[in-house]
Amino acid sequence: MKLTENEILRVVAIIQSNTDFTFEYYSTLSLGRRITKVLYDFELDINALIAKLEVDADLCKKVAYLLLVGHTDLFRNPEMWQILKQNIIDLFSKNDDIYIWHAGCSTGEEVYSMIMLLNELELLDRAHILATDVNQDALEQAKLGEYNYKYHLDYFKNFDEVIRRNPFYGTLYNAVPYSRYFTVNEVNKTIKIHEQFKQKITWVRHDLVNWTDIFEDKFNIIMCRNVLIYFNVIIQFELLEKFSQNLQDNAILVLGKDEEIAGEQKYNLEKKDLFYIKHTQD
Ligand SMILES: C[S@@+](CC[C@H](N)C(=O)[O-])C[C@H]1O[C@@H](n2cnc3c(N)ncnc32)[C@H](O)[C@@H]1O
Repeated sequence: MKLTENEILRVVAIIQSNTDFTFEYYSTLSLGRRITKVLYDFELDINALIAKLEVDADLCKKVAYLLLVGHTDLFRNPEMWQILKQNIIDLFSKNDDIYIWHAGCSTGEEVYSMIMLLNELELLDRAHILATDVNQDALEQAKLGEYNYKYHLDYFKNFDEVIRRNPFYGTLYNAVPYSRYFTVNEVNKTIKIHEQFKQKITWVRHDLVNWTDIFEDKFNIIMCRNVLIYFNVIIQFELLEKFSQNLQDNAILVLGKDEEIAGEQKYNLEKKDLFYIKHTQD
């Protein structure tokens, strides 16, 4: 059954009054889909959910996390990572320092993907990596760097596609062992990222909607993939402006594969392949 806007707003209002999450800037369409999934998973109808939320602050927090949509993957959209592999070399290979921010990093797979790529390109020593999300539970999981691959067999396929494959060698793959980056536990079906890579990352809870400036340096790369899609257009434009302000000249912004922005020139951004390049106006 399709939820009414009033029902969606009621759920959001109760959650907001019981947690420190703000959902009023999220698209109602996306919230409606997520609440419908919650109803299905909890086997409740909307009135029963509202009644439970009204008396259960823990449930409010739990549902808030479900509304945030944490889906992610190691080397998600490998073709994007392949293009990034070529562009990072060109754009940043002469920099002494490379500042990278993963905004909306979820459980961290995207951040560790970047670490592996930078290491293969021999740029990791110069990298300063900040990873943020509003969901503290996701950040705690990210810090552990341990992932179950049973339901994520793409982890290995994507790793091969990005780290082992070199498009210039045709079908020939570089023999990069998984053990360079993580331990595979075939009994538990988990991978565990090596400690030395985890230590390269600064994890911070940061809310893109209730923005606070926590940054000391401007970035060379901001990755904010599959996050803007959940916000309404007003907040999307506000965020693009803030991302642009926090990018160095000739730096890049990476959005999700299906996330397009209109009027990017207004924010001094130029679209190139799957990326936006920041150009400071004269
Ligand atoms: C679909 S995941 C994207 C993860 C990763 N960037 C990727 O593309 O694989 C969206 C993430 O955005 C985070 N998010 C949602 N609202 C946010 C906000 N207001 N501030 C910061 N992060 C937020 C969610 O908690 C979730 O972890």
